[in-house]
Amino acid sequence: MNYTSIQEAARTVNTRQKVQPKIGLILGSGLGVLADEITDAVTIPYADIPHFPVSTVEGHKGQLVIGELHGVPVLAMQGRFHFYEGWDVKDVTFPVRVMKELGIDKLIVTNAAGGVNPSLNAGDLMLITDHINHAGSHPLRGRNNPELGVRFPDMSAAYSPRLREEAQHAAAELGMNLREGVYVWNSGPSYETPVEVKMLQYLGGDAVGMSTVPEVIAARHAGMETAGISCISNMAAGILDQPLSHEEVIETTEKVREEFLGLIREWVKRIEKGD
Ligand code: HPA
Repeated sequence: MNYTSIQEAARTVNTRQKVQPKIGLILGSGLGVLADEITDAVTIPYADIPHFPVSTVEGHKGQLVIGELHGVPVLAMQGRFHFYEGWDVKDVTFPVRVMKELGIDKLIVTNAAGGVNPSLNAGDLMLITDHINHAGSHPLRGRNNPELGVRFPDMSAAYSPRLREEAQHAAAELGMNLREGVYVWNSGPSYETPVEVKMLQYLGGDAVGMSTVPEVIAARHAGMETAGISCISNMAAGILDQPLSHEEVIETTEKVREEFLGLIREWVKRIEKGD
């Protein structure tokens, strides 16, 4: 990956931001509303940032929102890039590189995902404990740039135990049941077949989605502390006797919006206090 492009993009963001963000937030399908809570916000459309890709999927805005989330300086991506849109995984992870270049050392990733574990329910929030890269693609494939990270990054604690503990404390404080599980990345854009879902159950997956894993790999490569939450927007194919649709995904994420917002708010406050 070209370090000069990362630096150019970071410079553009840096000249416009009014606070130095500490935590990066990537907001998934239907969850972009969190960025509307950011105060004293500077909004930068992706199109204004050199080398930034521009997202095409419904339900995703394409802008950075930088400001304070209840007193904590954050940078939120309102709209992310997906492999299924045709982007190379290098493009998908470019914003994470820019965050790191801006001095951000923590990343929280959110997504909508299908429940693979039958004990989950649509509307649950699931803290990601680990992931399975099942998309057949890898953001670090190719020559390694040692300025960005090591050739063979350790992934044994990709989802920070410390950040996860803070998330569970935040959930307990709010009286919420925050589920935990393994997120599987499939490339999409079709949803899975029922047999594929059964296979993911055998593999140890709890939820399946079309994002998150490349960003988390890049963030770990960059030495960032990372964590993720899935909003279980539907049960994966074959678990319930009904077809899946993007509308259902958006509808469910909208229903759990308040709970989700409350959790992230409380979590971010705790992370800031613990530093
Ligand atoms: N499968 C894959 N990705 C998804 C799903 C699903 O069931 N729901 C939301 N994103």
